[in-house]
Amino acid sequence: MYSIFDFMIQHKHERVCLATDSVSGLRAVIALHNTVRGPAIGGVRMWRYDTEEAAIQDALRLSEAMTFKAAVADIPFGGGKSVILADGKEHEPGIRSARLRAFGRFVESLDGCYIAGPDVGTSPADMAQIKGVTGNVVCCPVELGGSGDSAPMTAFGVLQGMHALAEEVLGVNNLVGVRVAIQGLGNVGMNLARLLIAEGAVVIGADIRPEAVRQARMQLPIEVVVPEAIYNVPATIFAPCALGGVLNDRTIERLPCKIIAGAANNQLEDDRHAELLRQCGIVYGVDYVLNAGGLINAAQEIEGYDQQKARQKVALIYDTVKRMLSISQAEQISTLAAALQMAFAVLQRSETTNASAR
Ligand code: NAI
Repeated sequence: MYSIFDFMIQHKHERVCLATDSVSGLRAVIALHNTVRGPAIGGVRMWRYDTEEAAIQDALRLSEAMTFKAAVADIPFGGGKSVILADGKEHEPGIRSARLRAFGRFVESLDGCYIAGPDVGTSPADMAQIKGVTGNVVCCPVELGGSGDSAPMTAFGVLQGMHALAEEVLGVNNLVGVRVAIQGLGNVGMNLARLLIAEGAVVIGADIRPEAVRQARMQLPIEVVVPEAIYNVPATIFAPCALGGVLNDRTIERLPCKIIAGAANNQLEDDRHAELLRQCGIVYGVDYVLNAGGLINAAQEIEGYDQQKARQKVALIYDTVKRMLSISQAEQISTLAAALQMAFAVLQRSETTNASAR
């Protein structure tokens, strides 16, 4: 039987907190994976889960990735993530607002150990609701002094990673004529598609929402395929920008690409799939390395938001990916193993510094 405690011990989680609010119907989970380098920062996912266990599991897995993401990006934060369980009623504005405010009180009760931001199912406007109750929130709308929507910066960061990967794998220093298959034409997917098309790449996309497909066709010169076909479409780069678990035993053998570079969190169904990709000759640009742009941008808010400064920091994802590829090649290990090595080195340094300060 699945044990939450065993999983937490195995993955070194510090805490998982559950909250309910009987008035609004809020049911929420906040997972704090690691606060060694600073408060745990991470998005609020509002999603409908089949079981409560699946919701907790998602928060645990996503919070761990946030620790590695912040460490590899070298920002002074730990890893956390929260989940608000959706039941359909959250579409009613009054209920949504009451739940977000109740969630804000939950965040406030953690005394600065957790800083919330948007994720799948939540937006900067939702963060503004949370802000009414706690200061421990980022990515509020620009007019309220926040950094706003993180998707453009996330897409910009993914593009920097793609450039580093294309240079190493394809020997090219631009993406002109390169075919990129984007799974998920949502916020990040569309921003990425725009950047790629502006650079001269050929974009093929897919989405399960007919409205997203309609918008994409209307706004951009892209070819759209049905969702299942995105794995087979001839493309040099596959960019997962939808949900997690899409790289697995069923999909990897179908991928004709040479590079995987996308924004979705937890793209691998299991860590062992990183090695499988390596054996298949596909270079995997690790999700939390490539998609750190939104986090780096949001973290900039804490010391006073400056978009130019944030953009410069996000551009460093290019160098981080180069370092990861060089470790992977030198040690003949998967890119995931190389990224983990980089993250553990940073965490270890902070642990040592904290220990000597005590
Ligand atoms: P979004 O919700 O705007 O877009 C996701 C899109 O994927 C939606 O249009 C949805 O219909 C589509 N989709 C879902 N399942 C699909 C499938 N099987 N096939 C094709 N399309 C599918 O979310 P957003 O903000 O664009 O984020 C995308 C991914 O990137 C998520 O995994 C998110 O956690 C991750 N991410 C986002 C960041 C941000 O700044 N927004 C930062 C870091 C990671």
